[in-house]
Amino acid sequence: MPTQFNPRIASMRPSATLAMSGRAKELKRQGAPVIALSAGEPDFGTPAPIAEAGIQAIREGFTRYTQNPGVPELREAICAKLQHDNGLSYTPGQILCSNGAKQSIAMTVAVLCAEGDEVLIPAPYWVSYPEMTRCAGAQPVIVPTGVDTNYRLTPEALEAAITERTRLLIMCSPSNPTGSVYSKAQLEALADTLRRHEQIFVVSDEIYEHVVYEAEHVAFASLPGMLDRTITVNGFSKCYAMTGWRLGYMAGPQEVVRQAAKLQGQFTSAPSSISQRAGIAALAMDMGPIRAMVAAFRERRDYALARLAAFRDCECPKPEGAFYLFPQVRPYYGRRAPSGRVIHDSQDLCFYLLEECHVALVPGAAFGDPDGIRISYAASMEDLRTALDRMEAGLNALE
Ligand SMILES: Cc1ncc(COP(=O)(O)O)c(C=O)c1O
Repeated sequence: MPTQFNPRIASMRPSATLAMSGRAKELKRQGAPVIALSAGEPDFGTPAPIAEAGIQAIREGFTRYTQNPGVPELREAICAKLQHDNGLSYTPGQILCSNGAKQSIAMTVAVLCAEGDEVLIPAPYWVSYPEMTRCAGAQPVIVPTGVDTNYRLTPEALEAAITERTRLLIMCSPSNPTGSVYSKAQLEALADTLRRHEQIFVVSDEIYEHVVYEAEHVAFASLPGMLDRTITVNGFSKCYAMTGWRLGYMAGPQEVVRQAAKLQGQFTSAPSSISQRAGIAALAMDMGPIRAMVAAFRERRDYALARLAAFRDCECPKPEGAFYLFPQVRPYYGRRAPSGRVIHDSQDLCFYLLEECHVALVPGAAFGDPDGIRISYAASMEDLRTALDRMEAGLNALE
């Protein structure tokens, strides 16, 4: 008899990026000089003071279970950070530290949403939001955005998508996959719309907060009236180059955080004690190394954007944050490569660029925009230059 699985898990789509990275690895193993511009993590090492704090924690034997929501010192440091950087007043009881922002978002969705609820997700979106929503039994409602607004949700589109079942809006600024950043005025306009719909909470995914260029990051919870209905999610992975340490957190209304803490207590317990010590060091650290990392990202963004502008039939809005570019590539669909391969969609285009040009990217379909592709510039300038040379030649060869 076939094994019966929970339909919510069985119907979950595996990450579409896995197919690409699996093929990229296979090609690399066969000796192909593949350059990966598909990574969602900084190509920098964790800054030394953070790593040292982790090592010190191990040496001191700080290697046991901690309090489920995280040690008080870390939650106090997070409160101080949220006050200092974002103008947000939270108490340690409103902070829940978890194994990465991913867990924080998944738990928030699980706590707030039930069968029949709708969750608004502006597209292009981070791949996990719709799956987390479906897993909670709720319905993702995708709200498309385009290059005309630099992939930002407008108040009109938000209003049009709201129903009496809408429970949650998931915001991500700076955005993965587009790099777009909302200004304070743009966020205020969205908050004005939400004020007319009291039942809606907001998850504000601010994990790329410090990776901003021209723009200034504004915390959604800092907007008038939004503190009590926003769950601010942040983490250490991207801004402190700590993806492997698995440390993130949520800050929000006491009761929401309490419910999520209950879930965490039964499912995973607190994040690693060692990572928590490292997190305290990250928040206490001089921001010099982070500024240097962001300056390097900015130089690469400028370079890659200038190169893409010279590509035939490729439109790419200027991202003001994160480390991704999201060009529109629909004009290439229907064209044929010299090998005879026909490009039908973003997946075909990415497989072509990978298999024939040896550049790994992620198809826009994975992010809810079938006309785009995601380029990560978390790679060295040298790799970026070579990869863009190959992409330009490969795209120009399509007829
Ligand atoms: C927008 C966004 N949110 C959350 C995460 C998850 O980060 P973490 O490593 O803290 O789980 C990522 C990682 O790719 C991301 O891009």
